[in-house]
Amino acid sequence: MKKKIAELLASKIDHFDVEKVEQLLEIPPKAEMGDFAFPCFQLAKVFRKAPNLIAADLAEQIGQQEFLSKIEVKGAYLNFFVDKTLFVKQVVEKADVENYGKGTLGEGKQICIDYSSPNVAKKFHVGHLRTTIIGNSLYKIFTKLGYKVERINHLGDWGTQFGKLIVAYKKWGSKEAVEKNGIAELMNIYVKFHEEAEKDDSLNDEARAWFTKMEQGDKEALDIWQWFKDISLVEYKKTYEMLGIEFDSYAGESFYCDKSKRVIDECNAHHLLEESEGAYIVRLDDYNMAPCIVMKKDGSSIYATRDLAAVLYRKDTYHFDKCIYVTGLEQKLHFAQVFKVIGLLGYEWAKDQLVHVPYGLVSLKGGKLSTRKGNIIYAEDILNESVNRISEIIEEKNPNIPDKEEVAHKVGIGAILFNDLYNQRIKDVVFDWDKIHNFDGETGPYVQYTYARAASILRKATNISMSESIDYSVLTDDSSITLLKEINRYPEAIELAAERMEPSIIARYAMSVAQAFNKFYHDNQCIVEDQTISNARLKLLTLAKNTLKDSLGLLGIQCPEQM
Ligand code: ARG
Repeated sequence: MKKKIAELLASKIDHFDVEKVEQLLEIPPKAEMGDFAFPCFQLAKVFRKAPNLIAADLAEQIGQQEFLSKIEVKGAYLNFFVDKTLFVKQVVEKADVENYGKGTLGEGKQICIDYSSPNVAKKFHVGHLRTTIIGNSLYKIFTKLGYKVERINHLGDWGTQFGKLIVAYKKWGSKEAVEKNGIAELMNIYVKFHEEAEKDDSLNDEARAWFTKMEQGDKEALDIWQWFKDISLVEYKKTYEMLGIEFDSYAGESFYCDKSKRVIDECNAHHLLEESEGAYIVRLDDYNMAPCIVMKKDGSSIYATRDLAAVLYRKDTYHFDKCIYVTGLEQKLHFAQVFKVIGLLGYEWAKDQLVHVPYGLVSLKGGKLSTRKGNIIYAEDILNESVNRISEIIEEKNPNIPDKEEVAHKVGIGAILFNDLYNQRIKDVVFDWDKIHNFDGETGPYVQYTYARAASILRKATNISMSESIDYSVLTDDSSITLLKEINRYPEAIELAAERMEPSIIARYAMSVAQAFNKFYHDNQCIVEDQTISNARLKLLTLAKNTLKDSLGLLGIQCPEQM
C-alpha cells in the first residue's frame, strides 16, 4: 500500500521519484490521522508555494482512488486512509501460507555462526548460556531467510590448562570420582592444582611438560585429555538437549593445532611477524590496537593463532559469505585483532565478512551472578530452577492440564530464553524470577499463554464450519486492523533482525502480536451466532496464533497448546 501511494504521489511530483516519496511517507501516530501521511514541507521551495496549499493541490490532483477510502489535507500533511476491506484481504492472503515470513534474501548464501563454545572441563556458566541462546536464534532467523547456516561449536579444548589438569588428576584425582562427578570433579582438582602450585612452583613446570607432550602427540597425555573432553561433552549435550539446540560442527580449538602452521607461514610471507619478549607478534599500532600474539616462544599456538587458523579453514571449507562470532563484549579486542590480521594477510573479505556479535553481562537481582571467588551460577541450575518454579505455579493454578511436565519444561525454558532475548543483546541481562515468570508482564510465559489461549478458542470452535470464503469487512474494526498490521510486518521484522543480528527485534515483535491479539480478543467475540463473523474472526485468530508460534520459534521457544 505504501508503495502504491508513493507511486501515485511520484507521478504528480516531477522532482521526486518513488523511492524518495517512500522515504518521506510517515506512519501517523494516531489512527484518525490515516494510515500514511505525506509531509509537503520539502516541496515548498520547489513549487514556491506554502506547504498546506501544495497538500491541497495534490489531494485534488489525486482525486478518488479505488484502494483509498479517503485523502485528507491536514495543514502541510496529506493523510491517506487505505480502504480497510482491501487491506484486510491483502494481509490475510499474504499471511495465510505455509511458512509465512520465509524470505529469499539468503538464497545461495552461506553463513557460519560460531557460538556457545564452552571451555572443556569447566561448567557451562550463564555467559555461555547467552551465546548459546543468541547464536541459536540467529541461526533460526537466517535460516528462515533462506541462508545456509553452519552451526559451529568452537570448543575451548586446547591450552596449557589441560597440562595442569593432567598433573592434578595424576596427583589427586581418581577415575571413579571423575566418572561419578564429571566436570565438577575436574573443576575441584583444577582448583586444588592452583592452591598447591602457589606453594610449589615446580607443579607449573610439570604442567607445561604435560601440555608439551599433548602438543607432540603423546598417547598417554592425549588419552587423558580426550577422556576429559568426552566427559565434558556429555554434560554440555544435556544442556543443549534441554534447550533444544544442535550443532553441525564441534571442531574446537584442538582441531586447529596442526593448521596453525599455515597462519605462521602466511604471516611470514607478508613480513608481519616480529619477535617480542620471546613471543611472535603482529604489530597493530597503525590501527590503534595492541599487538596480536600469534605464537609463543616455544612455537606453540595460542587462542588467537587457532582463531586465525579457523577463519582460513572455514573460508576454504564453507566458502562463507559471513562468519559470525557470538561472544561476550570482553572479547571485542581479540576479534578486532584477529580480523585485522586476516585482512593484513591480503584477504579483502575480512573487512565485511567477519563479524563479532557481542553481548552484555548477566546478573542476578540483588547481586552479581558470579564473583571472582567462585559462586558461579551454572546454566543447568538456572534452567532447572526455572522449570521447577513454573511447575509450582502450574500446580497452584492449573493442576489438571495434561502433560504438566512437558508444559513446565517449555514454559520454564521459554521464560529464560525470552528474558535473555527481549532487550538488545549488548544490554546486561538481569535474573529476577518474579519478573521473568510474571504471566502478565513482558515475558515469555505471557506470549506463550496468549498462544495457548488462541489454541483453546480454536478447540472450542467445533461447531463452526471454517470456510475458505471470508467476509473481510468483518475485520475492519480498530483492534482487528491493529492485529492485522502486526501480522503484516512479520517479514520486515525478520529481515531487520537478521540485518542487525538482533533477536530482540523478534522478541519485541512477538510481544506486540500477543498484545494486539489480546486486545482483539477482548474487543471481539470469536464464537458467535453469525457464522460469517465467526469464520472471519477465527481466521484472523488462526493467523495470529501461527505468527506467535513461528516468531517464538525463531527465538528457540516452544509453545504448549495448553497452559
Ligand atoms: N571458548 C571461548 C570462551 O569461552 C569462546 C570461543 C569463541 N569462539 C572463538 N572462535 N574464539 O570464552
